Amino acid sequence: MIDTEIIELNKYFAPEQIIKAAQALKSGELVAFPTETVYGLGANAFLAHAVQKIFEVKGRPQDNPLIVHLHNPAQLSEVAKNIPQITYLILNEFAPGPLTIILEKTDKIPAQVSAGLDTVAIRFPNNDVARTLLSLAEVPVVAPSANLSGKPSPTKAWHVYQDLQGKIPYILDGGTCTYGLESTILDLSVDQPVILRPGIITAKDIKQRAGIEVIEPERLDQNLKHPKAPGQKYRHYSPMAPVVILQEESNLEKRIGNLKHGIRDFVKNYDSDQKDLRIGLFLAEDLVNSFDLEKLTKSLNASTCYKLHFQIESYNNDQGADNAARELYNQFRVFDQQKVDLIICSAEPNLGVGIAYMNRLSKAASYNI
Ligand code: TXA
Ligand code: MG
Repeated sequence: MIDTEIIELNKYFAPEQIIKAAQALKSGELVAFPTETVYGLGANAFLAHAVQKIFEVKGRPQDNPLIVHLHNPAQLSEVAKNIPQITYLILNEFAPGPLTIILEKTDKIPAQVSAGLDTVAIRFPNNDVARTLLSLAEVPVVAPSANLSGKPSPTKAWHVYQDLQGKIPYILDGGTCTYGLESTILDLSVDQPVILRPGIITAKDIKQRAGIEVIEPERLDQNLKHPKAPGQKYRHYSPMAPVVILQEESNLEKRIGNLKHGIRDFVKNYDSDQKDLRIGLFLAEDLVNSFDLEKLTKSLNASTCYKLHFQIESYNNDQGADNAARELYNQFRVFDQQKVDLIICSAEPNLGVGIAYMNRLSKAASYNI
């Protein structure tokens, strides 16, 4: 066990507050830090023994490569070679930001970083704490999400503490992550650029802002026999209770009906000695406002031997899925703490941020109602 220090940083933080963590990072220790997507667990990319620690601390499969984080475009040629021209068009628009690109790697990148592949994943995070840490550390920093393997990615410092307390010396607490879902991964090492993991930046954004056509995830399986990001094959993002998706319906009443039926079916098949059954609901505000929870609880309780308890968290989706995306992983952890037996989350339309939200939700979910 080592002491884990949490360094709290508000938006007026001074670089001096981070110096000791940056020095530790440079010399081979692991440091967790906020990015605009999720918290990362950083190690000096050029020290193989530091990179190795990441796999041990997270319990991460060795064949899952890591993303190299940079703060200065001039560092690019240190880590990547044979860089195609479109890379610069894309970086011009989206760096720093929630985008990871895959390029051919240089020999300076240790084999553990790329898990033996001849490519490397690179990202320029857009978060003041991350950027200050990277510039003070003066080296490229590999950083997977700072969770234990199989847990949801951390979007707040307490999530990191929950998973990695006693295992790393520093957690930089920069508050809640802006987006709450991991970066878009775009493979530029192939002839036709392809998105390997959907994120906040979509194929449509790349087409509109950089004028470049990329293959989108929905078309990936049909169109391409390309190995996806190795990490995508592992089960991810799962809380302890089963997760169920409440599908979209144009009719709100029908959707509420589906919610009731879904709960009833789950309860009917639930086999437990316990009397109480906890259900976590993560639903759009308009849904929550359209039914009477007390009435619902009463009618469900009347038809079962369990006593039902609901934990409801709502989000506003008037402007799209941004709020749902930002809160999803936090809500999974909160429901875990509340020891719920079932989690029901509402689906969002599959466009914009909704694409990444539905991708992560579907990976965590067992079935739809
Ligand atoms: O937003 C993010 O990307 C966060 C923050 C901390 O930057 N990081 C993150 O890292 O999500 P991680 O390790 O949880 O996910 C990295 C993903 C994995 O699915 C991995 O397989 C893929 O990137 N990856 C890394 N190197 C690759 C490569 N050379 N080719 C294809 N996929 C790669
Ligand atoms: Mg991860």
